[in-house]
Amino acid sequence: MKNSLLAFFCVSLLLACGAQAGFWDSYEVLFGQQNFQYSGSPDQGNENVQLGLDQLTGSGFKSKYPYLFGYLSMKIKLVGGNSAGTVTSFYMASVYEKWSELDFEFLGNTSGAPYILQTNVFSEGVGQREQRIYLWFDPTADYHEYGVLWNKNLILFMVDGKVIRVFHNTQYLGIPYLNYQPMFIYTSIWDGSTWATCGGTVPADWSLAPFKASYSNFNTKDACAVTTEPPPYYATPEDVSLCSSQADQSWYGNDPNLALTQTQIDDLRWIKSNYIVYDYCTDLERYNWTVPPECAVNWP
Ligand SMILES: *[C@@H]1O[C@H](CO)[C@@H](O)[C@H](O)[C@H]1NC(C)=O
Ligand SMILES: *[C@@H]1O[C@H](CO)[C@@H](O)[C@H](O)[C@H]1NC(C)=O
Repeated sequence: MKNSLLAFFCVSLLLACGAQAGFWDSYEVLFGQQNFQYSGSPDQGNENVQLGLDQLTGSGFKSKYPYLFGYLSMKIKLVGGNSAGTVTSFYMASVYEKWSELDFEFLGNTSGAPYILQTNVFSEGVGQREQRIYLWFDPTADYHEYGVLWNKNLILFMVDGKVIRVFHNTQYLGIPYLNYQPMFIYTSIWDGSTWATCGGTVPADWSLAPFKASYSNFNTKDACAVTTEPPPYYATPEDVSLCSSQADQSWYGNDPNLALTQTQIDDLRWIKSNYIVYDYCTDLERYNWTVPPECAVNWP
């Protein structure tokens, strides 16, 4: 009796009993099931998902629960060779009317030409904050960690632990901040032929399909999941205050993560001088010669 009770609690509280939370505890297939491939097991610590794209469909997965604050990351190995026209993504988005979103989008390229990593931030429905960079390594040769550190003061876009972008809380400038809407995690690979590579002039070469991107090391353990409401998990004020206080008690919501460290400032300057391809903050024509107010703050 005792044993079966214990087993029951272990099943319902996987983490409490020390078992590894696996991919299927946190994620589900979003679309393109026929191009979705899972392998490995949580116990072996080698879970892997391959997302494929062919002429019929791309594929993707999504978290079961939304999160509010935390460090959320995964490792990704991008489509190798000629990946022109493909877009591989890892992003977070709310399901609310006041849309919020944080994006990593990897724009494929012809063999030997560099990928572009595009990031974007939507707060209360306003996006158009694209930044594009080249990476300092070949993202198709190996897995690299892409993550978001998100607390009440700032949102860091990180690649292998290095900050490539920051979005500060600039509510004092009238810019809405992402501090009350939990967001789901999404991934996908899709056909961006009309847009992605060299301004859409190089479409996908379907003779090379299926294009495959691989994902591993799904990390949501240092983040506040909103699980108490039924789907679609609209957060109640109680959920928001629970995640707020969880952030206050966690490393990701405390010093030194509430402001940029000197190393992070140096990393951002290094990115800005070596890897920027496009930055909305310098696209003056687009903004009618008025720099968006947060730009003054988000580049150190
Ligand atoms: C693809 O390669 C070309 C040539 O090096 C480069 O100009 C472009 O920025 C690269 N990336 C994309 C997504 O077009
Ligand atoms: C751009 O700014 C000028 C001067 O402030 C204004 O007259 C014009 O209507 C603006 N154009 C757009 C497209 O917002």
